[in-house]
Amino acid sequence: MRRLLIAGNWKMNGLSAQLAVATAVAQGVETYVAEGEETGQALPPEVLICPPATLLAALSATLRNTSLRTGGQDCHAASSGAHTGDLSAVMLADAGASYVIVGHSERRADHSETSAIVRAKAEAAAAAGLVPILCVGETEAERDSGAAVRIVCDQLIASLPPPETITGNALVIAYEPVWAIGSGRTPTLSQVQDMHAALRARLGETVGQEASRVRLLYGGSMKPQNAHDLLALHDVDGGLIGGASLNADEFLAIIAAARASLTL
Ligand code: PGA
Repeated sequence: MRRLLIAGNWKMNGLSAQLAVATAVAQGVETYVAEGEETGQALPPEVLICPPATLLAALSATLRNTSLRTGGQDCHAASSGAHTGDLSAVMLADAGASYVIVGHSERRADHSETSAIVRAKAEAAAAAGLVPILCVGETEAERDSGAAVRIVCDQLIASLPPPETITGNALVIAYEPVWAIGSGRTPTLSQVQDMHAALRARLGETVGQEASRVRLLYGGSMKPQNAHDLLALHDVDGGLIGGASLNADEFLAIIAAARASLTL
């Protein structure tokens, strides 16, 4: 059983007032959990918010007595040192994070991050006790070329931390087609399932049975309207949500869709 993970990626959005959104999400989730207890529902989805680094410590404190977790959006591969402006995984953990996104396509594009750099970041995250959410995805031209599955699987293998560090609980992978991020467009359901199944199979060649326990998130224009169908796919174990995670009602609607997909 893979527990669904609904992860919000606030990107470079949110001043202190945005903490109220997280409080509202936490209250909504507590209500769902109480309802789930009454109906004896299976393990509810895990909910995570990755705020900008400036809000991480405050958000972690705000959510301390709730079931919500917090995460960073990036980390440096080193644990400390002369790297002005960067943050280490150890620092994120110290600020209350449980997860960290690595290799997001906006980092790969805006900061020229290669898969080798992403792999080093994922390794540093794991060493600091964080669960890396390793992002992969194809561009529109790569999708149009017909080779998206091969390209994304190759990107995954090149970005993976050492196989011996990979267990089902210690790694999350997010498939995010670059052309779907923030665009309102998404792949078809069968394209998403095919990609996720291929990623799991390719992961299995490297880590064996553990691949069946690693959670594979879908990201890219996940909204309340499409979340249920995406999350009901066999190899989709959650979502990485940008725009819709900034609004409590929208994010809660996606969490509700995740809960509904469990009862299928
Ligand atoms: P989006 O972003 O939901 O706004 O498309 C997803 C992401 O980039 O993680």
